[in-house]
Amino acid sequence: MKQIIGGNWKMNGSRLAALEFLSEMKRLGSGSVSSEIVLFPPFTLISLMADAAADAGIETGGQDIFWLEKGAFTGEISPAMLVDAGASWFLVGHSERRHVIGETDDIVRRKLEAGLETGLRGILCVGELIEERDAGRTEEVVRRQVESALKGLECVSTENFVIAYEPVWAIGTGLTATPGEAERMHSLIREWVAGAISIDFADNTRIQYGGSVKPDNAAEILSRPSVNGALVGGASLKAKSFMDILKAVPPQD
Ligand code: 13P
Repeated sequence: MKQIIGGNWKMNGSRLAALEFLSEMKRLGSGSVSSEIVLFPPFTLISLMADAAADAGIETGGQDIFWLEKGAFTGEISPAMLVDAGASWFLVGHSERRHVIGETDDIVRRKLEAGLETGLRGILCVGELIEERDAGRTEEVVRRQVESALKGLECVSTENFVIAYEPVWAIGTGLTATPGEAERMHSLIREWVAGAISIDFADNTRIQYGGSVKPDNAAEILSRPSVNGALVGGASLKAKSFMDILKAVPPQD
């Protein structure tokens, strides 16, 4: 399975820095790596970046999406608007949207469905809070997030859909799940995906790990058989560290 490495810039970046980043990525060889690369800059930078990103072998996506096409929804961005800006991907259910903005499983599901129906490809983020982990509720929480997003979803395929397991306590903290812990959760997620859609679908769905992935820990995480890529926050803001993570991807079929 081809690994997929995402860079989530969150609320960071400027026009100048974005174009410099892309020319540096191209110079460092992003066009010839074996993984798929997707960058999620802020909405304001997508149309500026899309062409130069494609030239560097990189796809772009929105960090969020709304579930309706147009109308009186101040501040929202529709799937068609993302396509128009040149994006081919979107993220849904990122922990910062679930826990800072207050998005529910139902909202995440509606966004996922609308984005996929429009022909975009989507990454569903799931993961437990530290309190949930400490209370022994990790499996219950992540299972609910996976199942509520996927059960009965018709427009989903292994080409247009990826899951990112991001334990919330590992995001931006320098902490990471041990490769063994990540592997265990990825296997469970695959079981829940199998239950929600099918075994064949689950076997061919890519599951990324996210949370403090850096050049110095990427090789260990990405070499685990159940890990099919990474969703990188802070270390995707600099071309050099993002490329170092891409270079840490083990050879793949
Ligand atoms: P960090 O890599 O900065 O921990 O962020 C991970 C993340 O939230 C990616 O979506």
